[in-house]
Amino acid sequence: MKIACGTDIIEINRIQDAIEKSGLRFLKEIYTDGEIEYCQNKKNTKYEHYAARFAAKEAVFKAVYVLLENKFELNWKQAEIKNDKFGKPYIIFHDVEFENRIHSIDISISHCKQYATAYVTMIYE
Ligand SMILES: CC(C)(COP(=O)(O)OP(=O)(O)OC[C@H]1O[C@@H](n2cnc3c(N)ncnc32)[C@H](O)[C@@H]1OP(=O)(O)O)[C@@H](O)C(=O)NCCC(=O)NCCS
Repeated sequence: MKIACGTDIIEINRIQDAIEKSGLRFLKEIYTDGEIEYCQNKKNTKYEHYAARFAAKEAVFKAVYVLLENKFELNWKQAEIKNDKFGKPYIIFHDVEFENRIHSIDISISHCKQYATAYVTMIYE
């Protein structure tokens, strides 16, 4: 077993700008329907949650990079961020070949008015 980690931080206003400028096109390229529903339900703080999920996907990418043959193997929507009944975030993958090499993967997210950040730890074969 080996361990890999990934982290990312992003300015929330960059994500807000992208969403306001390109609307649905940006949302549909980056986020799953479930992620959009989660963030939209947050109303006034929705951009914090969108930015957090953007950082989370970047952090996932950095952690799983060691398992990829090329960096285009994983698109934004193939790593979905969900939250359990306590609010703790977790990752599910959609249609990725490397998933059977992951023994365990965990994520932690934080955000405030200006920044969102995420950290991923993965144990893999
Ligand atoms: C859950 C909690 C830790 C979130 O902290 P916060 O400073 O309010 O908010 P942050 O921006 O740092 O974190 C928000 C993210 O925490 C994550 N989170 C929420 N509940 C969580 C839980 N039960 N476990 C792990 N992560 C959780 C989510 O990813 C959330 O972002 P999202 O809704 O966009 O997915 C906090 O509200 C809480 O309930 N704390 C309990 C009291 C405490 O911390 N006691 C200290 C004991 S040592």
